[in-house]
Parts: sequence; structure tokens; C-alpha cells
Amino acid sequence: MHPIIAPSILAADFANLQRDIEMINASEAEWIHVDVMDGMFVPNISFGFPVMSAVKKHAKKPLDVHLMIVDPDRYLKNFSDAGADGIIVHYEACPNLHRTVQYIKELGCRAAVALNPHTPVALLEDIIGDLDQVLIMSVNPGFGGQKFIANTYKKLHDLRELCASKGVDLLIEVDGGVDDTNIKQLAEAGANVFVAGNAVFSATDPAAMISKLKGLSTIARS
Ligand code: DX5
Ligand code: ZN
Repeated sequence: MHPIIAPSILAADFANLQRDIEMINASEAEWIHVDVMDGMFVPNISFGFPVMSAVKKHAKKPLDVHLMIVDPDRYLKNFSDAGADGIIVHYEACPNLHRTVQYIKELGCRAAVALNPHTPVALLEDIIGDLDQVLIMSVNPGFGGQKFIANTYKKLHDLRELCASKGVDLLIEVDGGVDDTNIKQLAEAGANVFVAGNAVFSATDPAAMISKLKGLSTIARS
């Protein structure tokens, strides 16, 4: 499949959010990645529904909403109502993950589960058949601009093996420290959705960087 580039608005200029969303609208990015942090699951607070609704008002691309919050079930309906197309919950934040995943689907959203760097892919064995997407965190969640963790390649390999053994085909997303130096290797390791915050918004020409990331991640598959 074609790669999906999902710029993270966590790295956008919040005082110029409309401008930055319009840049994404006009770019080769497929999705807009929305990072919600609660100061509990992760040590940082980002933004909530009012900001997300403002983003939705201008966005012409689907919102990929990454919930780094404890007990996300409490807010799934609110995020769906605020315009989420896909909702990503953390494995580590959901004691009743099967129920959470079914609820996301009932809301009409793409259901995705994120794994922190220390969480083995094997723990998804009994839920993978219910998922539309898996997000492999390539940094510890909480902040943009962190250094990419190289063990991510091994986890992508494990995830591909698990998918093959279960006969499932889903979206494989990688998030954290993705840039033009590692995206090709990540695509070769099996990722097909790429979140990029700093790589895009710190570039002198963000739209050109999105295009570059897209080109580098478009690889011929045998
Ligand atoms: C980290 C977030 C990421 C972050 C990525 O907790 O989930 O989506 O915004 O930012 P970069 O690409 O700068 O690592
Ligand atoms: Zn994210």
C-alpha cells in the first residue's frame, strides 16, 4: 500500500494553527495526527476538545487521534463527536482493551492500539484480529522532538510476523523521532503510516519535507 504521512500538530505553531493546518491540507500528507496528553499517563499536558474542534473546523484530511490518557473510555464519545476518524488508545492504559476497541468501532472510528517502547508486540496476540491499526511508539510518549529508539525495527518485524501468523492485514504506524534519515528503513521494516512532528514543522519548507518523507517511504514491495 501507499505510505500515509501524518504530521503531528503537537509541533505546529499553536498561535498559527489555521495556517499550519492549511499547509497540511495543501500538502501530500494523508492524515493529521492529534496528540492528546493528560499529565497522568504521560508527564505532559497538550490540549483537549476545544483545540481539537478548532483543528477539525479547518482540516480537510482525516484526524488520527492519539490518546495518551488514563482510562480513555471516559472520553471516546467526546473525541468521536469532536471529529476523530481514527482513535488510538494505549495498551498500557486499558485494562479492558477488548471492550475499549469494540466501543471505538461502535462509534464508527478506526480502532488502533499503541504500544510503548517497553511493551512487547506479543501482548497483542488475542486482540490483533479486532484492530484496524497498531501504533508502535518509537520514543517514550509525552514529548515531541525526542530521539528515535532503534529497537523499533525489531518490533516492526515482530508485528509483521504476528500479523502473518494470524492472517491479518492492518495499518502499521510508527510515532516518534521519524525523519528523512530513518523513514525508508522503517518502511522496509513494514511500517506504512508515519507520524512526523518536528521533522515537518522544523523544516524550512514543511510541505516539501512532507513530500520528501512520502517519496522516501514509497518502496517497492516484493
Ligand atoms: C509523542 C507523540 C508524537 C510526537 C511526535 O508523545 O505521540 O506524536 O508528536 O513528534 P516528533 O516527530 O517530533 O518525535
Ligand atoms: Zn502521537
